[in-house]
Amino acid sequence: MSRPKISLIGGGQIGGNLALLAAQKELGDVVIFDIPKAEGMVKGKALDLLQLRPHDGYDANIVGTSDWNDVKDSDVFIITAGIPRKPGMDREDLLGINLGIMKDVASNIKEQAPNAFVIVISNPLDAMVYAFYKISGFSKNQVVGMAGALDSGRFRAFIAMETGLSVQDVTCMVLGGHGDTMVPITRLATVGGVPVTDLIPAERLAEIEHRTRFAGGEIVKLFGNGSAFYAPAQCAIEMAESYLKDKKRVIPCASLCEGEFDIDGYFIGVPTVIGSGGVEKILEFDLTDDEKTELNNTLDAVKKTVNETGL
Ligand code: APR
Repeated sequence: MSRPKISLIGGGQIGGNLALLAAQKELGDVVIFDIPKAEGMVKGKALDLLQLRPHDGYDANIVGTSDWNDVKDSDVFIITAGIPRKPGMDREDLLGINLGIMKDVASNIKEQAPNAFVIVISNPLDAMVYAFYKISGFSKNQVVGMAGALDSGRFRAFIAMETGLSVQDVTCMVLGGHGDTMVPITRLATVGGVPVTDLIPAERLAEIEHRTRFAGGEIVKLFGNGSAFYAPAQCAIEMAESYLKDKKRVIPCASLCEGEFDIDGYFIGVPTVIGSGGVEKILEFDLTDDEKTELNNTLDAVKKTVNETGL
């Protein structure tokens, strides 16, 4: 039985970390694809990772390429192709350039591996995953966006930092679009099952929610050139692993809603079951009136960007 084939479209900051994590977790063989101008960079990263193998003990093969034929019949694609934000930019400012790139990427993936499971990371996420879905014609089970995992993880990290308790025991979810209108569902956040609302005063919680909404921008500002890459890579790997190992993890992901949470025809962050069937199910639950209002607000923001794609 051959190993699964995981192709990373875009071998920049996130792509390089995806390759490392996929190899270390022994998820399968890895192809790092980038444009011809960056072929040397991805070939070099692949070689470096092959030379890490003796120390880490993984057997995965890793290649760098700018030839679409090399991704043929991949089981999983993780797409980071595009440009990242610079300070002062919203994710939406990337739309024009990244949409053009996504059109190229989606049509090539459709040709090379029509049955693959595809995780999109490129921003503006909710519009990019929608664009991939529309252009490729893939089924809704095959296409998902990585955003909610990252936003929820950031919320978890900040709660752990605030309480001094283990991040392992912090659970919470952030729904909606991958932008400033995202919706942290604070009333369901717990540490070891104890509601955070009993552990952290309301005004501090509001500050933590705010920091979560702008957490990506906080890093963009610190870097001065580029956006977060370690945590985004790990989140997408968790999603790929759940698919490849049929784990059926429940992860907030940008999934295509067709009536769930009264949303129809848009990819937006919702609790998603990922297993061997890809996006197997969206888990719905009752929202409070305030949460519904916030979800409608974030949906409006998503619709606006999606409409700008003209797809
Ligand atoms: N096909 C494949 N790769 C491409 C293409 C294309 N048509 N166009 C650009 N790329 C590559 C670039 O050459 C670059 O190596 O995508 C890579 C992007 O890497 P970085 O610039 O390092 O960006 P990164 O930090 O990895 O973020 C990528 O994810 O989180 C989002 O907002 C972020 O949209 C950005 C994306």
